[in-house]
Amino acid sequence: RIPKRLIIVSNRLPFQLIKQANRTEIKESDGGLVSALKSYFEGDRDGQIQFDSILWIGSAEFSEKAWMDFDKDELEKLPYTVEPIFIDKKVYHKYYNGFCNATLWPLFHYFPSFVEFDNKTFAAYEEVNQQFSERILMTLTPGDILWIHDYQLMLLPSMVRKKLPDATIGFFLHIPFPSFEIFRLLHRPWKEKLTEGLLGADLIGFHTHEYVQHFLKTVQMVKGYDHQFRTILLPDRVLKAEMFPLGIDFSKFHNAALLHQVMERKTEIKSNFADKKIIFSVDRLDYTKGITHRLAGFESFLENHPEWREKIVFILVVVPSRQIVSKYNERKKLIEEEIGGINGRYATLGWQPIIYRYNYLSFHELVSMYNVADIGLITPLRDGMNLVAKEYVASQTDRGVLILSELAGAANELGEAILVNPMDKDEMSDAILQAVLMPAETQRQKIQVLQQRLKDYTVTHWLADFLRQLEETKQHQRTQQ
Ligand code: UDP
Ligand code: G6P
Repeated sequence: RIPKRLIIVSNRLPFQLIKQANRTEIKESDGGLVSALKSYFEGDRDGQIQFDSILWIGSAEFSEKAWMDFDKDELEKLPYTVEPIFIDKKVYHKYYNGFCNATLWPLFHYFPSFVEFDNKTFAAYEEVNQQFSERILMTLTPGDILWIHDYQLMLLPSMVRKKLPDATIGFFLHIPFPSFEIFRLLHRPWKEKLTEGLLGADLIGFHTHEYVQHFLKTVQMVKGYDHQFRTILLPDRVLKAEMFPLGIDFSKFHNAALLHQVMERKTEIKSNFADKKIIFSVDRLDYTKGITHRLAGFESFLENHPEWREKIVFILVVVPSRQIVSKYNERKKLIEEEIGGINGRYATLGWQPIIYRYNYLSFHELVSMYNVADIGLITPLRDGMNLVAKEYVASQTDRGVLILSELAGAANELGEAILVNPMDKDEMSDAILQAVLMPAETQRQKIQVLQQRLKDYTVTHWLADFLRQLEETKQHQRTQQ
């Protein structure tokens, strides 16, 4: 029997190593991609797809020496092995802070004016993808399933395919695939290479139907390849582009609300804000998350409904992210100025409208906040999916109102939430009013429907669905030969 090994490849590993005094410690990584895959692999997988082994390849933010010196006993308990790739710091900087996060990220999230066009960062992007490819080729054996993740590695599928034409390669994009009118702004050689790069996969997954359509159109416009029922017809083989909306580990969040630590923390938070409605949001510090617009919406609410002042509090948690990229740093200043302004204008001796925290939350703290919050205010200007919105819903006991941007991929599945245009502060203010006035019974009914949907398509279903369709695509290819 050929052993079945799953190889996950993503730029970010599930953890990083950090030096604390004279000891090296593990720090969990954040972001939707890692959080989803980790919750699948590290959760209860009874009855799910079983692999003989799982290998996770990603780039290291630590040195080769730190890795060698690190006592790997701690990693033994993980259900996967990890292979870090060590990339030269300067090259990594141009790749990660440059082409990944100053070109692809803003463009794919519809911020064309933020996009930097620099051939040197594209060269670094090619180089890093090449290094990943070389590492994969050293380890890949027949029967392995290779699953590459996200915009940092879009050239990788075809790099591997060129060397190993029969390999089984899946690719999943965790961010939006933009309309061709946006994608076409990339320099011609970049556009061609990125499209060809993805076409090296057998199955390409996206969060929504819209992203699939945008990709199919791009393939037609850039490469001239046609498609039928989302199957793309290349001269020598077929491949598929399909929608797989990423889910969460529903029971992990739902059951955590009953944990002792969470109950205790909730009581503490509640006593701090007795008789006040709590609005909560948490995002990585990213201009795509719409934090300044959200603050403007909250201010409008305080302005339009003075009767709610002192009766509501907005707990805003921002998680540090990509701090070297200039647009991220600027955003931090803007957010903090805005918070200072609103608190200055509306606070009274006994009340501060916005409680701001710039830090990472532990899982227990996160669930406590989700559960205690009367309103989850999640309003990205663009988001591939947005897991926070799903986690907020899953963590509710029997009430809670989600206000969600219609421009988050998650809005396609969470229609019972109050959907808003994140740019429109008056609409956001109206939504907050609607939420604070929503009868408990209506909240309960909506939450129940939403929770059922999240239970029906968890991260486990997502993963199994993707891998099943990858296998089907391979079979389809065999019948075409
Ligand atoms: N998260 C976390 N601790 C925090 C903030 C966020 O673990 O303090 C996790 C959160 O639970 C979620 C992920 O980070 O699973 C964020 O995913 P999302 O899709 O909302 O946004 P992304 O960061 O991927 O753009
Ligand atoms: C988003 C991206 C992921 C990325 C995460 C955190 O979820 O889709 O690929 O890992 O943000 O960003 P970072 O740059 O810290 O990896």
